[in-house]
Amino acid sequence: MAEIRMTPQQLSAVEATEPLVFVSAGAGSGKTSVLVERYLRLVLERGCSPREVGAVTFTRKAAGELRARIRSRLIILGRLDLAAELDQAPIGTIHSLCARIIRSEGLAHGLQTDFRVLDESEAAILLDDALERAWSRLIADSPAEDLETLARYAGLLRTVALDAFRGLRAAGHRNPVLSFPNPPDAAEAVSRLRSALDRLDEEVSAHGLPNPTSRNNYRKALTCREWLSVCRPEPSVIQKAAELVPHMSGEKAKALFGETKAALVDLCRLLGEQYLVGVARMANIFLRGLGAEYAQLKAARNVLDFSDLEIEALALVKAHGGAGQLVHLLVDEFQDTNELQCGVFDALAPASLTTVGDYHQSIYGFRYADCEVFRSRRERLWADGHRPQSLSAPWTASSGAARYVPLSVSFRSAPALVEVVNHLFSSDAFFGEEFEPLAAARDGRPQCRIGTVGPAAELHAVGTEATPSEGSEGPAKVEAAALLGAEAGLVADRVHRLVTQEGWRARDVAILLRKTTHARDYLAALERRGIDAYLIGGRGYFRQDEVSDLTALLRLLVEPHSDLALATVLRSPMVALSDDGLLRLGRQRRKGRLASLWDALADLPGNTLEEADALRIQRLVEAVTALRLRALHPGLSILIEDAMQALDLDLLLLGAPGGRRRLANARKLMRLADDFEEVEGPELAAFLDYIERRGELDDREGEANVLAEDEDVVRVMSVHQAKGLEFPVVIVAGLGELPAGESSSLTLTPDG
Ligand SMILES: Nc1ncnc2c1ncn2[C@@H]1O[C@H](COP(=O)(O)OP(=O)(O)O)[C@@H](O)[C@H]1O
Ligand SMILES: [Mg+2]
Repeated sequence: MAEIRMTPQQLSAVEATEPLVFVSAGAGSGKTSVLVERYLRLVLERGCSPREVGAVTFTRKAAGELRARIRSRLIILGRLDLAAELDQAPIGTIHSLCARIIRSEGLAHGLQTDFRVLDESEAAILLDDALERAWSRLIADSPAEDLETLARYAGLLRTVALDAFRGLRAAGHRNPVLSFPNPPDAAEAVSRLRSALDRLDEEVSAHGLPNPTSRNNYRKALTCREWLSVCRPEPSVIQKAAELVPHMSGEKAKALFGETKAALVDLCRLLGEQYLVGVARMANIFLRGLGAEYAQLKAARNVLDFSDLEIEALALVKAHGGAGQLVHLLVDEFQDTNELQCGVFDALAPASLTTVGDYHQSIYGFRYADCEVFRSRRERLWADGHRPQSLSAPWTASSGAARYVPLSVSFRSAPALVEVVNHLFSSDAFFGEEFEPLAAARDGRPQCRIGTVGPAAELHAVGTEATPSEGSEGPAKVEAAALLGAEAGLVADRVHRLVTQEGWRARDVAILLRKTTHARDYLAALERRGIDAYLIGGRGYFRQDEVSDLTALLRLLVEPHSDLALATVLRSPMVALSDDGLLRLGRQRRKGRLASLWDALADLPGNTLEEADALRIQRLVEAVTALRLRALHPGLSILIEDAMQALDLDLLLLGAPGGRRRLANARKLMRLADDFEEVEGPELAAFLDYIERRGELDDREGEANVLAEDEDVVRVMSVHQAKGLEFPVVIVAGLGELPAGESSSLTLTPDG
């Protein structure tokens, strides 16, 4: 990468000598470039070795890019020695940094260091196993009187335990438990209700009961006295008390029964709280059990999850000081760092910690990123007088201990676009005063083949009056689908004009979506207009045809009598049995009262099928029979490869539309099999169950990526994936959709 001329603001961050350097600035203002440049200065001018400079990025991909940028600069500068050292340099995600700390420091402190790191999906499955075990144990160990509560709240307890476990571990708790305030004793509330009832008695014997309602209320009061002897924190008892609340119509009723009612309601609330605390105690027993089972499952496999890495690395660094040779640490996308991770950075206490980030780009809350860490650190610096006075001046501030650097120039976007963003984000509807506006560095707009046409920013709206078609399923659903279709069409039309009339290439255009659930609709709309598009990191890997066809074939090896698997394979391109053939097979099965379709295959009298179908089936039976002999031996991924070849699946996939992607998806199954076999062993049935559960638990698995950098297609991706990328034309679609609400079942405070 060629050298760029840093602005004075950027330079002040690049050259800063303070222990803490904090860069806060918007998208495209050159934050990552500052990190690269600072890295180079540290190794070139300040004599650090690459082993001494750590760099943390949010994804492995970003880490790869950072490494590549630094390497190419070092090569240009003729420092091949340093470039060669980069491979071993601590440049990576927070988790790779933590793993490195544990591996290098752990041995000396009695920790296992040859562990493997679970990815998110693997960890989710292991945790789900632990949940099942912990639940069975909880049922077995609980006293009989708790069983009803456990049955009543089974679903809730499980979600609460899982959410609490994940959330608290991400916050740094080794063994999560929830803490609950103890509700006060009910004795006082009971005696208050008793004396209210006594006073009511006195009043009634002195003045009598004025009307039927009050006579009814008084009867309730008499029952209430009996109820007091059984009042316990139990749903049925509290329910009963609710029926005893007097009717308060009119002033007289209020005067007579007001005090009784208030005391009764108070007591019920208390009993309710006590009951909930009882449930919460069970949740805690469950939570502890979950932690113990999960720890055991991990220990048996010698694996750590992401939270383990953070927790153990922090503990190590806190107890025994820094991580080996790290002297300087550079952190990109600091706004996505949570308290625990920030704790690791701070505890490392290198000679300097440089963080760069943009509060407004924090989008990883669902992964327990916590932009409050960034915000509170920035606020502390502002309070210490670091807030810039004027954005046009190259203004940075140092207090000796810290340097605060705002970057006020956007290098990425055209001036008109920067203006739109400034205007929108500084309005009270968005971030108001807190937003730090940018100035544009570019004097023009990105040029396409025929120059620049049209405005820099466009807003397109889809009408909401789309009327549902008759006889359809329900208005709301149809309307949403119709809107989506209309919007995808609108976007595709716009892209079509960009590409055919306005001089842009397909690869200049990116379509960003909040989530990729509906990405296929956009792809289809583009395809209908003859525009090639590619979904980056498309989700729903396990639902792709080639993946389900292949897993069905493998399933057939271990479960020959699975009709579902066989039918899938027969209809897949691997066999491509005709409708007629399938029908005859089904008939044969019914006629012979056979246990499965597979038996029908073997039992088929000659000339039942067309010759082509008969040949296809013969080939399948031979392949499956041969492969089945192999299914018990190690080497899952080779078995999968052989299965694909036996039925020419690799060639069939390559020949189909999107062939490279399909083949890459099928081959990804081999990678998953390798990972699985390493930890769990070579049993095919167990691997298939694992794949099935992964699909059910978390179908966010990305498809295999086969897109080359320069391929001329429109890129469709989620906003998350667009982080740090640049495109001349960006379309943000689906903005009318409301973000999904808070999905967690409980709100956690840092102390649980
Ligand atoms: N001083 C500069 N002069 C010209 N271009 C720059 C400068 N600093 C950064 N850039 C360019 O601006 C773009 C955005 O930079 P980047 O570091 O990725 O920003 P950020 O990390 O803040 O989003 C990149 O193309 C980068 O090469
Ligand atoms: Mg960046």
